[in-house]
Amino acid sequence: MSGRKKLIFGNWKMHFSVKQAAAFASRLAEKPKLSNVTVAVSPASVALTSVTDALSDSDIATIAQNAYHQDEGAFTGEISMPMLSGIAKYVLVGHSERRHVFHEANELLRAKMAAAVRSGITPIYCVGETLVEREYYHTNIVLSHQLETGLADLTAEEVERIIIAYEPVWALSNGKDFSKHKSAKPDDVKKAEEIIRKNIKELYGYDAANKVKVLYGGSSNPDNAVSLLSVDGIDGLLVGGASLSMATFWPIVEKASKLDIKNENLKK
Ligand code: PGA
Repeated sequence: MSGRKKLIFGNWKMHFSVKQAAAFASRLAEKPKLSNVTVAVSPASVALTSVTDALSDSDIATIAQNAYHQDEGAFTGEISMPMLSGIAKYVLVGHSERRHVFHEANELLRAKMAAAVRSGITPIYCVGETLVEREYYHTNIVLSHQLETGLADLTAEEVERIIIAYEPVWALSNGKDFSKHKSAKPDDVKKAEEIIRKNIKELYGYDAANKVKVLYGGSSNPDNAVSLLSVDGIDGLLVGGASLSMATFWPIVEKASKLDIKNENLKK
């Protein structure tokens, strides 16, 4: 798992007006280009175009926070995957807030995954157990079920190109307390990464299990970023609260760019 470029993705959730989002994106676009880290941000859908435009001269891409599984039709209020084409490079599917606040079930997420792939948008499939599931030692069962159902319509070649984000629900911050909220420990992250790749291997074979990118998300911040990014098999971070301020987001990007991707240790 060594020698892979780290991904630092910011999830802005329902924060920032269009103006604020575009202004933040313009500041990001002025940052130096770092060749060994991939950066992307996820504004609210109303700000996607402005943010994508503000980032057009940079290497930073945009992520849609959600989209519907049908390509078009009478679905008032929804945005389809084809509508994101040429705007967002990635789309979040099954974020814990979509699962738990909006009750999106694995079957719906399965259709969204297929719709994203069909439209050429890279889906970031979020999986993770709740605190109760963790306390009952159900992490393995929960992750396996989320993966088996959510990816069921994809081929092995398609799974190789998607991204999976392990986001334990108990580790997610409320957006403000990310520096104090309990993040998962590197050992927890390693265990989940192993469950994810083992499942993918059983369902889609070795190549897919090896190539699929696995991120961690949950109260990551500049202080814990290096230890989380150093977990073997973890390709990057999906950052929530800490992505809302340049003072906490950019140091994570810089730390990721300084990781020696050959041996995963920080360069001196
Ligand atoms: P957090 O959010 O970093 O604020 O915990 C991560 C996420 O929900 O993607």
